[in-house]
Amino acid sequence: MGVEVNLEGKIALVTGASSGLGARFARVLALAGARVVLAARRVERLKELRAEIESEGGDAHVVALDVVDHDSIKAAVAHAETEAGPIDILVNNSGVSTTQRLVDVTPDDYEFVFRTNTRGAFFVAQEVAKRMIARAKNKPDQHARIVNIASVAGLRVLPQIGVYCMSKAAVVQMTKAMALEWGRYGINVNAICPGYIRTEINDQHFDSEAGQKLVQMLPRRRVGEPADLDGLLLLLTCDESRFINGAIITADDGHSVF
Ligand SMILES: NC(=O)c1ccc[n+]([C@@H]2O[C@H](COP(=O)([O-])OP(=O)(O)OC[C@H]3O[C@@H](n4cnc5c(N)ncnc54)[C@H](OP(=O)(O)O)[C@@H]3O)[C@@H](O)[C@H]2O)c1
Repeated sequence: MGVEVNLEGKIALVTGASSGLGARFARVLALAGARVVLAARRVERLKELRAEIESEGGDAHVVALDVVDHDSIKAAVAHAETEAGPIDILVNNSGVSTTQRLVDVTPDDYEFVFRTNTRGAFFVAQEVAKRMIARAKNKPDQHARIVNIASVAGLRVLPQIGVYCMSKAAVVQMTKAMALEWGRYGINVNAICPGYIRTEINDQHFDSEAGQKLVQMLPRRRVGEPADLDGLLLLLTCDESRFINGAIITADDGHSVF
């Protein structure tokens, strides 16, 4: 018997698709057959990714989204559904970080991180879920999926990024609350907690001496690449994972075991 992940007929909204993990998530979902909607602020980058996905035979759409702006969230989700159709899968991935000691955190730093990572992620999921819940009335057996991108930093404290850790811990708890409340509508809500993966969020750090030292302290002395999350993303978005709800899954090369 052969088994493969087939997302044909599914519509997936990926936030923060203009770089790093989000761009990879969109590509992988498209390769598995989903129609993807790419969302972020840097629309030109999204258009480039759309062209790449189309050249690989995929189906992609672009919507502008700023997750710190509630009106933008509502408009982007509405636009996504008009362009592509009813969203089956949300990959709630947009995120930012700042690096400093807690005593140096300014109210602006705090707002920047929480407005994007926590408030933004919450209202994107809420806006999508409202539509999924409305559809559940006519389609009680739907296989809707929300995958929140948290972090190992939401489970353990890492130096210099305390506020980021706090914001991602909130995403972990948010995931469980959503799973509890929305599971009955056929919406599975789970979180991926990646370890260190080289993207624009941390590129400069890993090029620095401090970053290189950090890598030497990791169990396998390496950071990951976005493709290292492919398997977990496909697991959490496919119909066959219908019994996984409220799970917080690390994909961190063993970082959080010590
Ligand atoms: N890389 C890692 O080691 C790692 C580990 C654990 C968790 N994560 C999480 O993974 C997610 C993706 O991060 P990444 O590593 O891929 O970093 P990245 O390359 O910097 O990507 C961040 C994405 O978030 C988007 N974004 C930021 N602010 C936004 C806003 N206000 N509205 C809409 N989109 C916004 C950016 O798009 P625009 O600037 O175009 O809007 C960009 O596409 C984040 O939630 C991050 O916390 C990353």
